[in-house]
Amino acid sequence: MADASKVTGRLALCPGSFDPLTLGHVEMVQRARTLFDNVIVAILRNPSKQSLFTVEERVEIAREVFADDAGVEVDAFAGLLVEYAALRGACAVVRGVRGVTDFEYEWPMVQMNRELAPGVETVLLVPSPRVSAISSTLVKEIASMGGDVSAFLPPSVFARVSHRVRGRS
Ligand code: PNS
Repeated sequence: MADASKVTGRLALCPGSFDPLTLGHVEMVQRARTLFDNVIVAILRNPSKQSLFTVEERVEIAREVFADDAGVEVDAFAGLLVEYAALRGACAVVRGVRGVTDFEYEWPMVQMNRELAPGVETVLLVPSPRVSAISSTLVKEIASMGGDVSAFLPPSVFARVSHRVRGRS
């Protein structure tokens, strides 16, 4: 895995909670990599939000999933996204927009981030139909009720989610 701080090409952030990382996230990062030389999967530290996995676990999970791509780094951040972008020298933020609800959630963040950091562009990517209904929230709900979420997650993440929800029930 790359240390993006040592890379001079165009760098983008893929920020989010990634709790857990889904096939939708994987596709988004892979698409971002077709547009940018390097991508940082930036996992938000948000102590006020209840999560299935700790931030450290989520970083480990994402590092495993993207281990074969030298252009992808995984890191955790706290505080303002635009400050983290400045710290890392990222020129863009990439987010996935599955539909109208996502767009309404993203739009004010795009505008506010632009006000705060005009040099950081936000790129909104529309996922393929194959993954466009997948959400971490629904995956957690289905898994916690014993449903099969293997179609929505990379195999290593599916194993971790199954183990975690079994441990909780
Ligand atoms: O996966 P999520 O939870 O939808 O990701 C949301 C995220 C992490 C992109 C957003 O909450 C964020 O950027 N948080 C960092 C704090 C920040 O910069 N807030 C102001 C946004 S305008």
